Amino acid sequence: MDEKKKVIFSGIQPSGQLTLGNYLGAIKNWVKLQDEYDCYFCVVDLHAITVKQEPKDLRARTLEVMAIYIAAGIVPEKNTIFIQSHVPAHSEAAWLLNCYTYMGELSRMTQFKDKSQRYGESIAAGLYNYPVLMAADILLYQTDLVPVGSDQKQHLELARDIAQRFNGLYSETFVIPEPYIAQTGAKIMDLQTPTKKMSKSEDNPNSYILIMDPPEVIRKKVSRAVTDSVGEVRYSDEQPGVKNLITILSTITGQTPKEIENKYAGQGYAQFKNDVGEAIVGELEPIQKKVKEILADKSYLENIYKTGAQKAEYSARKTLSKMQRKIGFIPAAR
Ligand code: TRP
Repeated sequence: MDEKKKVIFSGIQPSGQLTLGNYLGAIKNWVKLQDEYDCYFCVVDLHAITVKQEPKDLRARTLEVMAIYIAAGIVPEKNTIFIQSHVPAHSEAAWLLNCYTYMGELSRMTQFKDKSQRYGESIAAGLYNYPVLMAADILLYQTDLVPVGSDQKQHLELARDIAQRFNGLYSETFVIPEPYIAQTGAKIMDLQTPTKKMSKSEDNPNSYILIMDPPEVIRKKVSRAVTDSVGEVRYSDEQPGVKNLITILSTITGQTPKEIENKYAGQGYAQFKNDVGEAIVGELEPIQKKVKEILADKSYLENIYKTGAQKAEYSARKTLSKMQRKIGFIPAAR
């Protein structure tokens, strides 16, 4: 008999092009989870529109993110890969959960505080409510584990609080999700300001490497990455630029930071940087090729997101009906 596998849910917003940070910090780890867990990997387009999106870019990126998932090794038959807006239960559950979430809780979210400082009064209400939509994503699938970076921990914590509150008010409805901390939870930093997380929203393109950057661009960006005047390849907080490049190399090749330090002892940075560039190119080039093949085959991709949405819809509906019933809504007559 098949023992019931634990459920994992994660998603990436199609709001910009994905970076090496998204790949090494998230997607590469997801690939390792697919045999052991029942995984839902979502392209969260509803989240993306909390900031302005050009419709044609949103369309292209949504498909590209999905193609990247698959090209990176997430096998469609083993997982549920889908587009968030294809499963309306996400929007519906988010409304319901909004009524069990306090303004105070949402106002304390640091990501919202940062963003509202940047946008002022004309910040979208969606950006404020965004953690509730994320809670709906997670809770609809009775998710056990959520692989998240440190910037999303607070949102996951809120999802747990909302779930506990709802369960307490009515009766057991949701599984309380836990963060999944990957053993190799690589946090990739900005190449120009290595004390900040690598982000696609940075103005200077030398700050980040995109998954789809051509090899020569990748090599150039690595060679321009900020290091220091120490001149030693050392995995140390005092050398954040070098440390970040070691993390990248280590995550790709599987060598430990210590092994990498030893290999380049007394050599300065030139060969080291060169090898980091080649390692990234070696990892991303085959993925880029597959992404292009997948995007060229519309019906293949369409088939995957259709099947994914059907599978997701089935589980999500079950939880949504349960919520509606407990709240006291009259089930619609058929
Ligand atoms: N908010 C997440 C981010 O910006 C993306 C996301 C949306 C997500 N729904 C999720 C991540 C559910 C994990 C689980 O990175």
